[in-house]
Amino acid sequence: AASLPASVEALSLQSTAQKSQFAGCFPTLNPMDIYRQHIAEELGKAAGIDAQKIYPRIVWTSTLDKGDLSLPVASLQIKQNPVELAKDLVSKFPASDLIHPPTQLGPHIQFFCKPQPLSSNVLGRILKEKAAYGTNGNQGQKDPSDPSKGQKKIIIEFSSPNIAKPFHAGHLRSTIIGGFLANIYTVMGWDVIKMNYLGDWGKQYGLLARGFKDYGNEESLIKDPINHLFDVYVKINRVVSEQDGPIKELKEQIKTKKEKNEDVAELEAQLAKLVDVSEDEQARRYFKSMEDGEPDALALWRKFRDLSIEKYKQTYARLNIDFDVYSGESQIKSESMTNAYELMEKAGVSEKSEGAVIVDFTKHGAKKLGKAIIVRKDGTPLYLTRDIGAITERDNEYHFDKMIYVVAAQQDLHLAQLFKVTELMGHKDLASRCQHINFGMVRGMSTRKGTVKFLDDILRDVGDKMHEVMKKNDVKYAQVEDPEKTADILGITSVMVQDMTGKRVNGYEFNLDAMTSFEGDTGPYLQYAHARLCSMTRKSELDVDELVNANFDLLTEQHAIDLVRLLAQWPDVLLQTAKTLEPITVLSYLFRMTHMLSSSYDVLKVIGSEPDVKQARMALYASARQVLNNGMRVLGLSPVQRC
Ligand code: ARG
Repeated sequence: AASLPASVEALSLQSTAQKSQFAGCFPTLNPMDIYRQHIAEELGKAAGIDAQKIYPRIVWTSTLDKGDLSLPVASLQIKQNPVELAKDLVSKFPASDLIHPPTQLGPHIQFFCKPQPLSSNVLGRILKEKAAYGTNGNQGQKDPSDPSKGQKKIIIEFSSPNIAKPFHAGHLRSTIIGGFLANIYTVMGWDVIKMNYLGDWGKQYGLLARGFKDYGNEESLIKDPINHLFDVYVKINRVVSEQDGPIKELKEQIKTKKEKNEDVAELEAQLAKLVDVSEDEQARRYFKSMEDGEPDALALWRKFRDLSIEKYKQTYARLNIDFDVYSGESQIKSESMTNAYELMEKAGVSEKSEGAVIVDFTKHGAKKLGKAIIVRKDGTPLYLTRDIGAITERDNEYHFDKMIYVVAAQQDLHLAQLFKVTELMGHKDLASRCQHINFGMVRGMSTRKGTVKFLDDILRDVGDKMHEVMKKNDVKYAQVEDPEKTADILGITSVMVQDMTGKRVNGYEFNLDAMTSFEGDTGPYLQYAHARLCSMTRKSELDVDELVNANFDLLTEQHAIDLVRLLAQWPDVLLQTAKTLEPITVLSYLFRMTHMLSSSYDVLKVIGSEPDVKQARMALYASARQVLNNGMRVLGLSPVQRC
């Protein structure tokens, strides 16, 4: 398992035999569901309210001082003043082994778990279930009451860079968020297909092939395809803009002469010659030959594509991501697009406009979407057209229950148009299964050496910086086995955590110094917290497999109790994350835990404590390490043992 990408390794399922009377209640997977069930049943009996009505209204709390669970009584829709009702219910609640007598605060009832039963339940589970703690495979069942119906299927399309062009910040965010979403759906029991939709088709590939003849060479291509192709692309584009000058000038001259009614025949012949030999025109023709399936042209393009993918794969592996499918604009069959044109025409969605085919959304109840060209004057398809072909191809091939596009907010309009066209074409159900997960811009992402060509450049740069930061602590640095490797992982963590801090829609400033600091809510701080727990385990010299037999009743300090209460929330945090689809939901929980840990170390000492107490506290810290590890992995991070 060590060679596997450090993503998600385990999944727990609740068998139908252990089913609760409440929908969505999984007592064998989620300790808090035991409490929800208990509260619903007891309160129901005592107050004569249907327990089914109470259960779904019991919510988790964002801070522990508000209780472990809370019931906003207004949600019960009982005709009584909510404050009075809360008081009334609290007074009726019977004594319980699991929870303290509830408290009323305004229209809320707060429930606090009794520490001992909670500790032995939660810590016992974590130490047994390990990576599976918090996962809930039942969520992804097609039919939760009949497992033979199988899992729901989701396509997550993300990253999707353009070959030979820079891997920009938008692709970075898409990669990080997409990887995270794939993990979330995996631990929720979905069958996840990770798809990369490459920008790998269009006139620019004609240009690239032309450029390769003059500026490319096999050796460099094989060695470093991404950077080499980018270099070639930059060089040939320079030629294009150089040639563009004289062409524009001639056009100007012709225009002025025409205005004066002078003869322009000679100039026009000159212009035609210039255009004919221009790289731009050659590229257009070359791409035409690719579209026509000319074998040599296709072979060269395929080589560029294959080598680039090989290289992409290595870089994605550093982020614990492996794609199931490398699709791309080139892969969309022209018949899928022709089918789409026909459907649109039949449905009266598209119209001719100056030789092109367009969709005028304003005529179809979607004013904000404006107009979009579907087929150019010269008969060629566009970015949107290929996406229309792709959406139906994917539906036919995968029969997915859901598809997510992880694309920058700059393409909000594009995706809205895509979904609307799909709907207008008569695929309303298909459109309703698709979702655009967007995100804001990263500002100022460049490496210290200059522009970003590929993700590798950024990761290397941040890794170098992290190495410098690590070196500042001589003593610790000397203990790290492979500092280069650790610096690399810490660098990647820095970039990812900075990206996941804050809501997706918010953009942020790429800040090398802030993200690589061990202070504040940063990636290195999170790694440090994990490494510290690992080091405690090593130094305790206790048998980790025996910790599950510790006497948890010895965890009596408030710090210990609160930590257990927080660990009990992890399954609920994951469920909540599956709703928000925001990495910050997980990340802020992990930071709450690491802060709580730092303030516990002085109070809950392991070394030097009585053997029983030592074992119980170590069990607590080992459980915290496990949950921290699980959380980091869901985010796509690789937790380190030392740093
Ligand atoms: N390659 C595109 C770009 O870099 C992103 C592709 C997004 N996905 C899609 N199905 N259009 O802008």
